[in-house]
Amino acid sequence: MVVSPERLAGAPHPLLEGLDAGRAAAPAAVVIFGASGDLTSRKLMPALQALMARQQLAPGTSIVGVGRSDLDHEDFRARMRRAVEQAGDVDERAWAELEGGFRYVSGGYDDGTTYKVLDEVVGDLDRERGTAGNRLHYLSTPPGVFADVVRRLGEVGLHRPALGGEFARVVIEKPFGRDLASAEALDAALHEVLDEDQLYRIDHYLGKETVQNVLALRFANSIFEPVWNRRYVDSVQITVAESEGVGHRAGFYEEAGALRDIVQNHLLQVLALTAMEPPVSMSPQGIRDEKVKALGAVDLLDAAEVSAEVVRARYRGGWVGGAEVPGYLDEDGVAPDSRTETYVAMRLRIDNWRWAGVPFYLRTGKRLPKRMTEVALQFSGVPHLPFAPTQAAELGPNALVLRIQPDEGITLRFGAKVPGQSFDVRSVSMDFSYGAAFLEEAPEAYERLLLDALHGDPTLFIRTDEVRQAWRIVQPLLDAWADDPAPPVDYDAGTWGPEEADRLLAADGRRWRRP
Ligand SMILES: NC(=O)c1ccc[n+]([C@@H]2O[C@H](COP(=O)([O-])OP(=O)(O)OC[C@H]3O[C@@H](n4cnc5c(N)ncnc54)[C@H](OP(=O)(O)O)[C@@H]3O)[C@@H](O)[C@H]2O)c1
Repeated sequence: MVVSPERLAGAPHPLLEGLDAGRAAAPAAVVIFGASGDLTSRKLMPALQALMARQQLAPGTSIVGVGRSDLDHEDFRARMRRAVEQAGDVDERAWAELEGGFRYVSGGYDDGTTYKVLDEVVGDLDRERGTAGNRLHYLSTPPGVFADVVRRLGEVGLHRPALGGEFARVVIEKPFGRDLASAEALDAALHEVLDEDQLYRIDHYLGKETVQNVLALRFANSIFEPVWNRRYVDSVQITVAESEGVGHRAGFYEEAGALRDIVQNHLLQVLALTAMEPPVSMSPQGIRDEKVKALGAVDLLDAAEVSAEVVRARYRGGWVGGAEVPGYLDEDGVAPDSRTETYVAMRLRIDNWRWAGVPFYLRTGKRLPKRMTEVALQFSGVPHLPFAPTQAAELGPNALVLRIQPDEGITLRFGAKVPGQSFDVRSVSMDFSYGAAFLEEAPEAYERLLLDALHGDPTLFIRTDEVRQAWRIVQPLLDAWADDPAPPVDYDAGTWGPEEADRLLAADGRRWRRP
């Protein structure tokens, strides 16, 4: 499609139409399983209120909690009110709109009675509040119960919209399995009841504006894409750093580790957006097809390569942000003989025309010096540097850095002449900051994703083949580590990781960025 300059100046860019979330969603019963949990209070309920405050939810939209906790409708409403209060301001007008629509169904996730009652409750809401037969089921429980919930929904027909309704969709939270086999088994169980187009697998990273901006930067500009390939890019570094430790989530983290918690989903999603080919359109299929192809082109490591290409590590005690923090093994709930990794660094290759020969270095870790996520493209040097070594001593490689969080923005590093009589050149930065360029506040990731799920726009959700491709990449690491009795190597809390990770890049004549 040819896009005229007038169109670019005025109406929304047709490639970006799929990302328009300005419209109000159709009325629906939003059914949250595991509604007594942390995610519902911290993220889902504040997001739903914010959407109602912006009139992006239809009047009558109702919220039904389901779980084993012994709550009644009033308890649930009061709990959700507290959640919104704790998250910030209560918008009284939005609250008044939502207030009459809270219901709670107490019961086991594998108990048929729970679903019979739920069916009656949402049927009543259709009549009393005009939810019109539409259902958005949100599975906010531990993943072990996802398959049971979906099977039981199917038994009472809640996997389909009620008469006159338009949709019944199911949102599920990561993790999508704990390895390739369990992910495939989970999908098989879900697909026994649901069609793929009813499934919305959330990776909240994709709801972040700056992650979506990777697509805008690459495909709405003519200056970046021509250099976005092996001819100009020397290497790519993707970092997801956390300053926090395992906190009170040791039970979960001991089972997951950094590879499952971050690499399999967030890191590989950012990699896919960075490496994918331009889609024909921003349609869900257009984008997701290209992401799958990019992930499918990643060169899978074999067992022998894992030790050379991947570093797994675990934090010792140290200092982060001026506070002394314990090592992973001393955290509450961590087994003394734990082999769980809190840090992973790896070198991946993408075997396709665009990226052949360009290493992608990925790293993630807990208790690193600061919380930040970025993608950095480092460009190849000039063919001939006509400066004396002393003149170019402070000149580094050109780099384009996409800062995903915090301080969201983009930095371009290039060489400039140092003012003065001599001809010294030095690297300088040109910065774009989201906060300075736009007055609008970016919506929270969960606001964006909940609204998209209500609209039926799956662009920012993960399709079954993406999940499978990501597990294919990660599975050889899981296998190699399962056979390796050695614990992860150590790094001090408050540092950027172990020496082994530095050596991984040093072997290629490169260094990790020190943001
Ligand atoms: N919290 C986050 O920031 C976050 C971020 C990313 C992904 N997630 C994912 O989102 C989902 C919900 O997270 P969450 O932090 O809200 O979880 P959670 O607090 O651990 O659990 C949510 C609810 O599920 C029920 N539940 C807990 N353990 C259960 C078990 N063993 N069997 C059956 N039900 C159980 C409980 O409700 P009842 O006792 O009332 O049944 C609990 O209140 C999880 O899949 C998690 O991995 C969470």
